Amino acid sequence: MTDTTATLAAGLREGYSLPRQFYTSDAIFADDMREIVSRKWIMAGHASQIPNVGDYVLFHVGQEQIILIRDTAGEVGAFYNLCRHRGSTLCSAQSGNARKLVCPYHAWTYGLDGALISARLMPDDFNKADNGLIACHSRVYHGLIFINLSEDAPDDFDATFGEFDAILDYHGFANAKVAHIGHYPTAANWKLVVENFLECYHCQPAHPEFCSMHPADALLAVGAGPSSGPNEAMASYGPVLAAWEEKAAAMGRPLGNVDDGPETTHLRLLMQRTMREGYISETEDGQPASTLMGKRQDWDFGRMHLAFSPMSHIVADNDFAMMFRFTPRTAMTTDVDILWLVDGQAENYDVEKMVWGWDRTTLQDKTITEDNQTGILSHRYTPGRYSQQERGLETFQKWYLRHLGLAHAG
Ligand code: FES
Ligand code: FE
Repeated sequence: MTDTTATLAAGLREGYSLPRQFYTSDAIFADDMREIVSRKWIMAGHASQIPNVGDYVLFHVGQEQIILIRDTAGEVGAFYNLCRHRGSTLCSAQSGNARKLVCPYHAWTYGLDGALISARLMPDDFNKADNGLIACHSRVYHGLIFINLSEDAPDDFDATFGEFDAILDYHGFANAKVAHIGHYPTAANWKLVVENFLECYHCQPAHPEFCSMHPADALLAVGAGPSSGPNEAMASYGPVLAAWEEKAAAMGRPLGNVDDGPETTHLRLLMQRTMREGYISETEDGQPASTLMGKRQDWDFGRMHLAFSPMSHIVADNDFAMMFRFTPRTAMTTDVDILWLVDGQAENYDVEKMVWGWDRTTLQDKTITEDNQTGILSHRYTPGRYSQQERGLETFQKWYLRHLGLAHAG
């Protein structure tokens, strides 16, 4: 890194976007990986992706590859995808089913629980028990598979996310199944991808389909979270929201919002709100694309957005849900993936109808975020002032800088 921390800190201005190096530098990306990405619980997949013993799927984050695999006891485990002999990649397919994991290089063989079963011609003092696959912290929570790359004890999962139990239970995430997966690899720093998702200032100019499904005053006030818009914007939307909350609560829906500040470990967010009048679901005509999910007995015209961290979001309509993964890979590349979920028993769901809104929206986000990165690469880029509808970015920036031991001057 040619810039010292002091030089970087001097370029920080509260209420402005970050200086260029934060979006381009390999050294800062390494800091981001070490101080943030490797210490957070990251939503890596859904248990329904690997329903049978031996099913596995790979999850890539930074330089790491994690094998998510179902063992003979039916439990989901997570292991680094590297052989303990000389480090070869173990699984090269992105997903599959295996009775054992056999290294393609010299055929060391591991069980589904990561234990080393066989290794040919090893010296007498070689101990197989010391050479199992390296486990990665993992947790299946309401069907959502989380991993944590921390080499130390990670943040306590239940203490961090336990308050979401009732919400996730009501929406039926544990009994859901993946209906479709969309991949939108984005040539931009992960913070640009996250920042784009944490503001709805761009919704109106960039997302005609998304805006067609949502009330304009809701997008202005709370489009990207409970306090993402100007304070006064709630004046027109507040009464609409309160009336809906009353009806939804009477139908048994657990309510409540969460709006974490910069001092928190995971910057969680929970926002529940209405969709455009007459819209039951986020589809082109507002009609459902699948059957009711979870515990609900009837349509309630609401929508839930929950962030476990800036990298891991879920959105739930009444009939389908989406998992958004924003996964840092290199300084200027980020994996963006959406997993669409329906009720585990649903049969006649309409994938095309379900993905209409968010597939288009995410392709638009890919374009605008990549254009954002390209502009920032110019040496004439300077940090720009945030609008009143980008308040979530100020919070995110403070949260981010705190992890790097940086802060705005004054
Ligand atoms: Fe895997 Fe040699 S590197 S068996
Ligand atoms: Fe967007």
